[in-house]
Amino acid sequence: MVVGMRDDTHFGFREVPLGEKQALVDDVFHKVARRYDLMNDLMSAGLHRAWKDALVTAINPPKNERDFALLDVAGGTGDVSFRTIAAGGSGTRATVADINAEMLAVGRERAYAQALDDVVTFVDANAEALPFPDRSFDAVSIAFGIRNVPRIDVALAEMQRVLRIGGRFLCLEFSNVDVPGLDALYELYSFNIVPALGRAVVGDAEPYRYLVESIRRFPRPSAFAEMMHAAGLRRVSHRLMSGGIVALHSGWRL
Ligand SMILES: C[S@@+](CC[C@H](N)C(=O)[O-])C[C@H]1O[C@@H](n2cnc3c(N)ncnc32)[C@H](O)[C@@H]1O
Repeated sequence: MVVGMRDDTHFGFREVPLGEKQALVDDVFHKVARRYDLMNDLMSAGLHRAWKDALVTAINPPKNERDFALLDVAGGTGDVSFRTIAAGGSGTRATVADINAEMLAVGRERAYAQALDDVVTFVDANAEALPFPDRSFDAVSIAFGIRNVPRIDVALAEMQRVLRIGGRFLCLEFSNVDVPGLDALYELYSFNIVPALGRAVVGDAEPYRYLVESIRRFPRPSAFAEMMHAAGLRRVSHRLMSGGIVALHSGWRL
């Protein structure tokens, strides 16, 4: 399935014109921004921390003073960027690009509170049209963001464009659980517990129903690998984590 080539798309299980998906996604993250980080911990029972640690290990920022620039697309409140700064040396910088002003505002407050506003920069940007020059980052990451972007193929091409030659692209995204027993449990959890948590914490189950349903719509790892290759990324691979709940996709600009 080449999502970006279609002129309609899905919002959860609803068919919506491709042009309307972004506005609906923006509404979801506008509603959840203030409670986003708390909900991540509750929904994943803290597991998202281990998944992001694996991502940061793969980003592999230098531990010394060597310059290293990360672009974290759909970076929301900046979690991956803060973790990368903590893992890297004094030359590590991160740029968070996100389309949602509310998520960015929460991130800026976090950066300011931790005195990291000089090393983590927040930019209002659409993944489909990144406002950065060609080959300007050492690594580009996107965590739990790509499935929200209406034209995935366009965003992948943009992320490849801004990566320097020899730079690495990394994408963390929910995948398909195919461990017998765990799949049924995961299904039950996703469609019942997660929306109920959303209602209790954010006051609305609908955004979390959308997030769960959008996971079902996302291409399987092999299909996503083909999209990454079509965008110009090479040595494309992926690794499943937590029984396939999440996949870490990797590709290089060579
Ligand atoms: C599930 S959150 C992930 C946030 C962060 N990466 C993390 O893992 O904590 C998805 C993010 O994608 C952003 N997003 C959705 N569509 C986007 C687009 N077209 N361009 C840039 N960001 C987008 C949303 O605003 C939201 O902040």
